[in-house]
Amino acid sequence: MKLWGGRFTKPTNELVDEYTASISFDQKLAQYDIQGSLAHVEMLAKCEIIPREDAETIKKGLKVVAEKIAAGEAELTEANEDIHMNVEKLLIDEVGAVGGKLHTGRSRNDQVALDMRLYLRDSIVTLVELLTKLQEALMEQANQNLDTILPGYTHLQRAQPVLFAHHMMAYVSMFERDTERLKDSFKRVNRSPLGAGALAGTTFPIDRHFVAEQLNFDGVVENSLDAVSDRDFVVEFLANASLTIMHMSRLSEELVQWSSAEFNFVELDDAFCTGSSMMPQKKNPDVAELVRGKSGRVYGHLIGMLTTLKGLPIAYNKDMQEDKEGMFDTVETLKGALALFAPMISTMEVKKDNMYAAVAEDFSNATDLADYLVNKDLPFREAHAVVGQVVLHCINKNKYLLDLTLEEFKNFSELIEDDIYHVLSPETVVNARDVAGGTAKNRVEEQIELASSRLDISKKWIKEFAEKVNVLTK
Ligand code: ARG
Repeated sequence: MKLWGGRFTKPTNELVDEYTASISFDQKLAQYDIQGSLAHVEMLAKCEIIPREDAETIKKGLKVVAEKIAAGEAELTEANEDIHMNVEKLLIDEVGAVGGKLHTGRSRNDQVALDMRLYLRDSIVTLVELLTKLQEALMEQANQNLDTILPGYTHLQRAQPVLFAHHMMAYVSMFERDTERLKDSFKRVNRSPLGAGALAGTTFPIDRHFVAEQLNFDGVVENSLDAVSDRDFVVEFLANASLTIMHMSRLSEELVQWSSAEFNFVELDDAFCTGSSMMPQKKNPDVAELVRGKSGRVYGHLIGMLTTLKGLPIAYNKDMQEDKEGMFDTVETLKGALALFAPMISTMEVKKDNMYAAVAEDFSNATDLADYLVNKDLPFREAHAVVGQVVLHCINKNKYLLDLTLEEFKNFSELIEDDIYHVLSPETVVNARDVAGGTAKNRVEEQIELASSRLDISKKWIKEFAEKVNVLTK
């Protein structure tokens, strides 16, 4: 007999059980579900809705159920549909009919919303921590490469030289925005929907705020209809996750390019690459490729969730059961990618000489020749045209700017003197970008300093919030 079987005259069709059950995936919520039930039953006793003695029996029983599930000793069944009813059934098996008092003043609709929020806030803290570790790995590479110059690209054409440290710090900025978004979303996740009941509230004199306090929520979701029908926090998380995996995918693409024979700018550590079953010489950047590939499923989950929600009337609809797998998969996908990226970045060998050679064999100092003429009062547009002519001459002669004699330079402009060789050297070119956020060494050092002090603040956030979400053991 089903927990809700009273008004039914025959058993559910087996295929219906199979099709509608969520236990195969929502068992991931088991410990959060029990955590929520412990807080709920404590409130029922405090508000004198059930006797204290019964509450204590239920709490003990819930803890046994939690241990059994964690140890894989509990039987979770499709007949009991989802994690909420499986736990309730296990509880009743454990403590007898009194276990049936647990669900007083509660519905699975507010219960599932609660579990989702408990799971997600925990995951957010873990993800911020993993993102911080990746930022640290990138900053470590930045610190070791404050003198490493490589061509900066636009349109994947060599544009102007930059420090490799500067390039690494661009990613640090991207991942910093990702942590900010996750941290900001936390306050919208961290509200308790419990007490909304099925949709309208409950007739029992419950204390929603007491439940929220026990679970370290920042407050309750104000409107009971909204509490059970809102999945904005899931969509928001999936959107934030999409940006993170997109950032990781762009970094992946660069790692794949850089480790090719054509670029030969970095060598990924053997421990983070794989081989080919046929070609003995191959060493493939599979991790980077797979992260790039997995961006697809994360975006898919975002679009899937938005589509599931778009036509739903207030409040709970069974469609919303579809909120779980995409969210779980996104959390796992990001955790896996971030955990691998941090050590892969810190063990990556940076081939400084190859990067420098690439800078020597390009025209990425052409802007500096134009700026040199501008400093001698030639209007920029005219300087641009002169340098265009110089570059064309070089291409015809198979030379680069620094290979030209002073006489050759003077054929194009009498303004050019022999200090031009110093002006066009890669080091001078890089350090000339001495503006806030520019690639000059002192500016990049400044960036690293600012970013690392913000990282320290982020680490304090992690510590504080890790404690906040850790109510499982209470
Ligand atoms: N398994 C359901 C879900 O994940 C729990 C809520 C079900 N509520 C209901 N009245 N059927 O969404």
